[in-house]
Amino acid sequence: MIDIHTHILPGVDDGAETLEDSLRLARAAVEDGIHTVIATPHHANGKYTNSAADILPRVRALNEELIRADIPLTVLPGQEIRLTNQFFEEWESGTLQGLHESSYILIEFPSGHIPLDTPAFIYELSLLNLQAIIAHPERNAEIASKPDLLQELIEKGALAQVTSHSLNGSFGSKIQQVALQLCRRNLVHFVSTDAHHWEGRGFDLSRAYALVERELGAGESNYYKSNAACILANSPIPIREPLGLRKKWYQFW
Ligand SMILES: [Fe+2]
Repeated sequence: MIDIHTHILPGVDDGAETLEDSLRLARAAVEDGIHTVIATPHHANGKYTNSAADILPRVRALNEELIRADIPLTVLPGQEIRLTNQFFEEWESGTLQGLHESSYILIEFPSGHIPLDTPAFIYELSLLNLQAIIAHPERNAEIASKPDLLQELIEKGALAQVTSHSLNGSFGSKIQQVALQLCRRNLVHFVSTDAHHWEGRGFDLSRAYALVERELGAGESNYYKSNAACILANSPIPIREPLGLRKKWYQFW
């Protein structure tokens, strides 16, 4: 399996603190059946700044340690980016990068709301041939109470990634139900772990895929798995029509 969202790099954010933590996370990933992860340190979230130029050598160093420790896991560079007014300036200057340097950009919302200018941002990204992947929308309070808001962003060209722990119920049954509902409505394109710590908040990706398969069918879990592979190849993600709850005008009559 491929995991497109992790905090496995040591000492850069609230994920792994030490190299030993990173190696423990890496062993846990392999045990779960994962062969490739993208390291996505937080950037511009008010607490952490991790530019692309800082991330690349750290990813290279961690891969060398993994070979030395005989752990069969490959780490690729990425970033989890908050929307700021400096986004496009930082993109131009090379401070930002897509997942595995692709045209897919992992975007983190504040937990309480969707930033007002998000639709315009998604459009501006598309002008640069870039596509936003919204990280864990099921954990955003505004989307959880009104999933139609996510549908509007998806219809504007965004993609979305739910977290394995949300599907597995680790964040409570409400978030679990929201995550499954978003999946059922074709508003989800990836399942990933957002792994932070080997203890408590690791991977659990195989269990999440098994749950998706049980609840929604094998076609759904295969769709998420093959989309993760599309990221590595920087190839297009097949988009399905969202199944909206919103009524069309003629349904009001
Ligand atoms: Fe994250």
